[in-house]
Amino acid sequence: MKKILLNFLVATACIAGNGLMAQEVSTITLKPTDSAPIINKNIYGHFAEHLGRLIYDGLYVGEDSSIPNTKGVRNDIIKALRDLDIPVLRWPGGCFADTYHWKDGIGPKEDRPTIVNQWWGGVTEDNSFGTHNFLDLCEELETEPYLAANVGSGTVKELADWVQYVNHAGVSPMSKLRQENGRKEPWKVTYWGVGNEAWGCGGHMTAEYYANVYKKYATFMTDWNNGTGLYRIASGANAGDYHWTEVLMRDIPTNLLEGVALHSYSVIDWSNKGSATGFTKKQYFQTMQRALHMEELVTRHSAIMDKYDPENKVALIVDEWGGWYDVEEGTNPGFLYQQNTMRDAMIAGTTLNIFNNHARRVKMANLAQAVNVLQAVILTDGEKMLLTPTYWVMQMYKVHQDATLIPLNLEGENYVMDGEELPAISASASKAKDGKVHISLVNIDSENAHEVSIDLSEMTLSDLSAKILTSKNVQDYNSFEDPESIKPVSFKDFKMKKGKLDVEVPPFSVIVFGEK
Ligand code: AHR
Repeated sequence: MKKILLNFLVATACIAGNGLMAQEVSTITLKPTDSAPIINKNIYGHFAEHLGRLIYDGLYVGEDSSIPNTKGVRNDIIKALRDLDIPVLRWPGGCFADTYHWKDGIGPKEDRPTIVNQWWGGVTEDNSFGTHNFLDLCEELETEPYLAANVGSGTVKELADWVQYVNHAGVSPMSKLRQENGRKEPWKVTYWGVGNEAWGCGGHMTAEYYANVYKKYATFMTDWNNGTGLYRIASGANAGDYHWTEVLMRDIPTNLLEGVALHSYSVIDWSNKGSATGFTKKQYFQTMQRALHMEELVTRHSAIMDKYDPENKVALIVDEWGGWYDVEEGTNPGFLYQQNTMRDAMIAGTTLNIFNNHARRVKMANLAQAVNVLQAVILTDGEKMLLTPTYWVMQMYKVHQDATLIPLNLEGENYVMDGEELPAISASASKAKDGKVHISLVNIDSENAHEVSIDLSEMTLSDLSAKILTSKNVQDYNSFEDPESIKPVSFKDFKMKKGKLDVEVPPFSVIVFGEK
């Protein structure tokens, strides 16, 4: 109540007083503890589906392309993803995964069958980008592959063969086939998704039915003693379907299960998603409501997992998240191509803070998707390529990868719209392996700057430097005509004195502080 009143006063002060703000201060206290979890670097994972212009006419242009490439993958994209230190990449879907038969994508390209991509635009998939292309790309990127297996229209044998094909070092039918196709050593793939959205495009199953199907598939998966161990991830809940997680955790023994997935998109209304760029203040607020709902989702799914797995052996894997809007005008509706504005930077900054703060249970997350699809970090247009505001948030936050979480208390002011309110400030902090502390702060309020005071008295910090990502309008984006208009810049507008860091965080901005 106090906060609503406060913001009413702010609004009045603003109108009456020439925009002068009368905000109260949001306070954050860092609370380092020896029992804090490591922020698994895989929280900063990505997702590449055979969808629209992600693989074809996106990252994969083919060996004969005039665009500089390595084994057909654009060099500029390889560089951009390497610069981001992407830890894990999920492939080949999504919904596509449950229609994908991996043997279609190996061997001489001219012999590979074509299929129809039934989920995404009904286009012809010629299978020219297959298992070897993907796993070689992961090696090039120094990232862990995460293969999503076909449960919906595949078989147990098909998946068991795929595992053998990529992981078996000795003499076996599938390792022989792999070697005939030019790859001697196995790739040693650890992460495996057993189906995708089994409640929807993966087969419209009930949780009870899928739990049985999962057990059957997981039983026949083995790492072939290659020393990596397999990390099997069950197809998880659709957002707030807590029954789904309950059933999986109740019915699948933990010796068959390493991760349970969760999918949640920040979408205003599935039948009226709105423009990616031409959105109103109200639509912006609604998107932020959906994004911040992730806090409740991971809290409640984690609580169910705690009940069945108090030892925290099974991870919550948020392997699809991000903003979802109407496609750009004139583009194929099945291709899910959308621009990426400062609104998306706000989704990324707040969501990654949520995942960091829930690092005990959340051990992987995969932004949907990497290139030209949904909340992409990279967009391409012919030879041109640009990095989106979301890319820059990921880049600023990569300091949290494999760092130790520093828990914090946050008492913040609200962002108010038409009588509804959201916490304006979001934050997370960590200590990197080299001992340096980093703090990421987001102010989602599109109208007001917010003063934040961070109490650091429980730790000893050296001098800090900072970077900020913001822009003039929350609808701003990087275009192919002006690809660098939004990027992080150095930020010096803060004071550090007597164990306190005071900063005024501009509207819709992300700031990351780090010890020099
Ligand atoms: O990311 C796009 C689609 O969204 C995925 O294919 C599917 O898993 C989800 O519904």
